[in-house]
Amino acid sequence: MHTAESHIGWPSSVAIIGAGTMGLGVAECFAVAGIRVLVTDATPELTREARDRLVRRVEGHAEAGLLPQEAVDRVEAVMAADDVAGAVSDADLVFEAVPEDMGLKEEILGSCCESAPEEAIIVSNTSSLPIEDLSGFVGRPERFCGMHWFNPPEWTPGVEVIPAAPTGREVVERLVGFLRSIGKRPVVVGDGPGFVANRIQNALFLEAVRCVDEGLASSQEVDEVVRSCFGFRLPFFGPFQISDMAGLDVYENVLDVLREGLGERFEAPESLRDLVERGRTGTKSGAGFLEYSDEERDRLLLERDRRYAALNELLGDLPPVDAGSGS
Ligand SMILES: NC(=O)c1ccc[n+]([C@@H]2O[C@H](COP(=O)([O-])OP(=O)(O)OC[C@H]3O[C@@H](n4cnc5c(N)ncnc54)[C@H](O)[C@@H]3O)[C@@H](O)[C@H]2O)c1
Repeated sequence: MHTAESHIGWPSSVAIIGAGTMGLGVAECFAVAGIRVLVTDATPELTREARDRLVRRVEGHAEAGLLPQEAVDRVEAVMAADDVAGAVSDADLVFEAVPEDMGLKEEILGSCCESAPEEAIIVSNTSSLPIEDLSGFVGRPERFCGMHWFNPPEWTPGVEVIPAAPTGREVVERLVGFLRSIGKRPVVVGDGPGFVANRIQNALFLEAVRCVDEGLASSQEVDEVVRSCFGFRLPFFGPFQISDMAGLDVYENVLDVLREGLGERFEAPESLRDLVERGRTGTKSGAGFLEYSDEERDRLLLERDRRYAALNELLGDLPPVDAGSGS
């Protein structure tokens, strides 16, 4: 988490609506960055309890050596507001993180829009509800956007920024600039079901459950395979760089076998077949999904090896996946 007051100066005040798992983590992150934060939950009592939890949590982070004492002082300054109107009346940015229920989001976003200053930007942390639909609940949809964080939000760097059709371009730029300035890694993505992260994550999850249901491995074994085999690469590379380094012709062959055994969901996409047909098989041919000069390829592969060696070092004493095995 960024503790220096390095953020771009906007927003100076943020309202967090819904102080649960996500709202509190985001509140900690903003407060630690030096931003004035107000939180509110379903009732004044729940809000006060949530604020106390927030302070205890940052104290725990400081005790564990994860944050300096200064961070605790900043989080202690987070204010509890009795209701939405009290939280948003002076906010530059309103962060909605109430449960994933369309009716509730409609009610809350409507109240936020009614009571927030006209120039405030309102964002929703929804994991799956279409941003276009949610934008219909605010009076100024050009100042509304999806901002999807990941649990635990105070530590996970990636944030999906999801504009709806009416969202102003300058609003998106402002949100992206702000998130970068507090050390996050925002990516602007389209408003499709599950956006990008949840769509990919759930495809992985479904296949993991199927592997267990079909008796290929236990859930502990699947977790071990995922984190230690291909998951080991994921902090550094996404599927396109990974497949380019492995060889797209190899991927195509494997997909053909999977398609044969597991059905249409493994059909190789035309875009992949086309690349292979044109000889773009990845780093080994100088181009795959991406393009690589000889020098870039050599640098990439050496950098990959450096990162993997460092990660192996970090993982040195990672225990095997056995939590919850009952043994
Ligand atoms: N949990 C995750 O991993 C995760 C990740 C990304 C996005 N999200 C999304 O973030 C949102 C919040 O999820 P969460 O996991 O923090 O849920 P949560 O249940 O932990 O927190 C929601 C909070 O909203 C409060 N709330 C309920 N009604 C309210 C009202 N009328 N006014 C104010 N507050 C009210 C609840 O009391 C609770 O504290 C959801 O849209 C969810 O899909 C969750």
